[in-house]
Amino acid sequence: MVLLDGKKTSNAIKDEIASQVSSLVASGEKKPHLAAVIVGNDGASLTYVASKVKACERVGFESTLVKLPETISEKELLHTILQLNTNPKIDGYIVQLPLPKHIDEQNILLAIDPKKDVDGFHPVNVGRMALDLPTFLPATPYGIMELLERYDVETSGKNVLVIGRSHIVGRPMSILMSQKRKSGNATVTIAHSHTKQLSTLTKTADIIVAALGIPEFLTGDMVKNDVTIIDVGITRVADNTKPKGYYITGDVHFDSVSKKASYITPVPGGVGPMTIAMLLKNTLLARNRHAN
Ligand code: GUN
Repeated sequence: MVLLDGKKTSNAIKDEIASQVSSLVASGEKKPHLAAVIVGNDGASLTYVASKVKACERVGFESTLVKLPETISEKELLHTILQLNTNPKIDGYIVQLPLPKHIDEQNILLAIDPKKDVDGFHPVNVGRMALDLPTFLPATPYGIMELLERYDVETSGKNVLVIGRSHIVGRPMSILMSQKRKSGNATVTIAHSHTKQLSTLTKTADIIVAALGIPEFLTGDMVKNDVTIIDVGITRVADNTKPKGYYITGDVHFDSVSKKASYITPVPGGVGPMTIAMLLKNTLLARNRHAN
C-alpha cells in the first residue's frame, strides 16, 4: 500500500511556487497577492482560511484577509466583492464557503470577476473547465489530479467511482477524470444520495473518490483489492479525550480500507494540503495572466 502523501507533495509544489516568486521579486516584479473573504465565525472555516493565509507567507505571496460579521447583508458583501474586483493590487481572491443562509451563494459567486476567481467557482470558469479550455481549476479537484499524476497512478480506462455530486468536488472530479488529459481518460460513475446498491458500485471500482461528507462511510468490506482511494472528507468528530475536544476524520474507514488498497490518501495530510497548494498555484497563474 502506498500512502498518497499530500503534505509532502504540497510542500514540493509550494517550494516550486516559492522559487518562481523569488525570480519575480529578483527581477523587480510584484509578488502575487491573494485575498480571502470570510463571513462569520465557523471554527472549521476560520481554520481553513488561516491555513491559506499562512501558506501565502510560506511562498512569499502578499495576502489580505477580509473578515466580515455573520450579520452582513448580501448587498454589503457584494460591495466588498466589487471592491476586490477593481483593486489592482489583488491578483485573485476567494470567498470561503459556506456562507450564512440569508446570503445567496450563487449571487456572490456570479459577482466575482472570473479573472480573479482562483477557486474556479464562477459559472464562466466552471463552463471553461467542462469544455477543457484554460481556466482556474477548483483547488480540491486540481489537487487530486496533481496527486494522482505525481504518484503515477494509472487512470486511463479505469473504472472511477465519485461518491458525492457537490459543485466544489464531486461534479468537477467526474468531469476532469473523464476528460482527455493527464489523470483522466477514466470511465466515471457519479454516485449520490439517490444511488441504489452503492456497494455493488464500490466493489467494482478501480478508483474511488469519497466526497460525501459522512465520516468513515466507506469500509473495507465495500472495496475490492488493489483499489485506489481518494478521501476528500474532513469532519471534526467530538471527542473529550483529545486536547482540542475533537479529532479529524475522513469519509473512509482508513484502518479497514487501507488493508486492501494499493494507494490511499490519509486524513489529515492527504487532499487537504493539496487544496491549499493548488489555490496558490492558481493565484500565481492569475498574477502571470494579469501581467501579460
Ligand atoms: N469551502 C470548502 N472548500 C472550499 C474551497 O475550496 N474554497 C472555498 N472558497 N470555500 C470552501
